[in-house]
Amino acid sequence: MRLWGAHVDPSAIVYHGMQVRAARRLRIGARTVVGQHCVLDARGGLVIGADTNISSDVQFYTAQHPWNGPGFTGAELGPVVVGERVWVGPRVTVLPGVTIGDGAVVAAGAVVTHDVPAWTLVGGVPAAHIADRDVQDYELATSHLKLWWW
Ligand SMILES: CC(C)(COP(=O)(O)OP(=O)(O)OC[C@H]1O[C@@H](n2cnc3c(N)ncnc32)[C@H](O)[C@@H]1OP(=O)(O)O)[C@@H](O)C(=O)NCCC(=O)NCCS
Repeated sequence: MRLWGAHVDPSAIVYHGMQVRAARRLRIGARTVVGQHCVLDARGGLVIGADTNISSDVQFYTAQHPWNGPGFTGAELGPVVVGERVWVGPRVTVLPGVTIGDGAVVAAGAVVTHDVPAWTLVGGVPAAHIADRDVQDYELATSHLKLWWW
């Protein structure tokens, strides 16, 4: 991904099978882990903060067709920003223009259509508030997983 221009911290881990669009607009922070088969669409800008866990099969989209336009021509872009110490559960879809706050958790299978406040748990379709989290300070211990780096 770095060869294509992505800014990926050397301590981050990205598992196999991901798709990247517009790598030059992708940033992944320190110690962050991105699981298998994720879609990292950075056409509108995709920033994933440090110490964040992206589970498998998560799809980030930063572009979409105008849904009410003729022939769905053109593209609407919206950056996606994921904070630090976030966990995005498996099979979550994050739509263009969404910001996920620090320490937030998105439960498995959610479709995130609006910003997620920091240190909250959200889930469902569309994702809605489930609970608040305690604010905590920690770093992900990912170095022992380096064998999976590619
Ligand atoms: C975030 C997560 C851990 C929360 O699960 P949990 O601890 O069972 O959640 P809770 O028991 O506190 O549930 C609180 C409420 O949220 C609901 N809820 C939990 N997970 C949900 C989900 N994925 N989507 C929608 N609602 C969910 C529960 O039904 C419950 O609602 P209720 O109070 O009306 O009954 C879970 O949703 C998840 O995403 N797990 C991912 C598993 C995974 O990735 N495993 C591999 C790790 S390597």
